[in-house]
Amino acid sequence: MDFNELCLGCRTYRRFQPKEIDAGILDELMENVRIANSAMNAQVLRYVLVREPSLTAAMQPLIHWAGALPPELGTPKAGETPVAFVLICKEGRGNPWDDIDVGIAARTITLNAYAHGIGSAMLGAVEFPKVKEILSLPADWDPRLLIALGYPGCESHIVDVPENGSTKYFLDEKKDYCVPKRQLSDICIKK
Ligand SMILES: Cc1cc2nc3c(=O)[nH]c(=O)nc-3n(C[C@H](O)[C@H](O)[C@H](O)COP(=O)(O)O)c2cc1C
Repeated sequence: MDFNELCLGCRTYRRFQPKEIDAGILDELMENVRIANSAMNAQVLRYVLVREPSLTAAMQPLIHWAGALPPELGTPKAGETPVAFVLICKEGRGNPWDDIDVGIAARTITLNAYAHGIGSAMLGAVEFPKVKEILSLPADWDPRLLIALGYPGCESHIVDVPENGSTKYFLDEKKDYCVPKRQLSDICIKK
């Protein structure tokens, strides 16, 4: 897979196959995020890799999926839920750039996963205090973003932004995701 194919396919997936992810692949994701770029090389991020089924099941109801869709379409049903999560946390006071580190970490994980055919979703609308309790995290670990992982149970395609300018994603007749992206000429000035 070349890098453009990787970027095209590395979309947000909200339905997954009930198929385990090899522990070696998950270890590879964590090793590559360990060496990611970090502001001032301060490395304030901490990670929780969750694959224990009782914990992943307890976390599902705490996630708010697909704000643009009605829940019956956007929330994964039993048998479609992610099989693993990586919770990205900030430890301690952090620094002004720590959420940029979170973005770098998230993209490192999701691209690395898709290189193995594994889909993902970055999730910010999560009841983090309850997740923190379920996972018994240290008090000074502040959860910032949850990454859901699993083999895709649907497709997701990039489409043009329609005439009315809406960037809301939607489902097509096969219930696959269609994600409008702006044209490069609309978002980039070349000098
Ligand atoms: C920081 C961040 C937080 C997000 N939080 C959620 C979320 O809570 N629930 C959800 O279903 N999708 C969430 N998403 C996924 C976005 O909705 C998705 O990236 C967007 O619709 C574009 O789709 P694409 O990722 O396939 O390009 C989040 C994405 C990012 C980058």
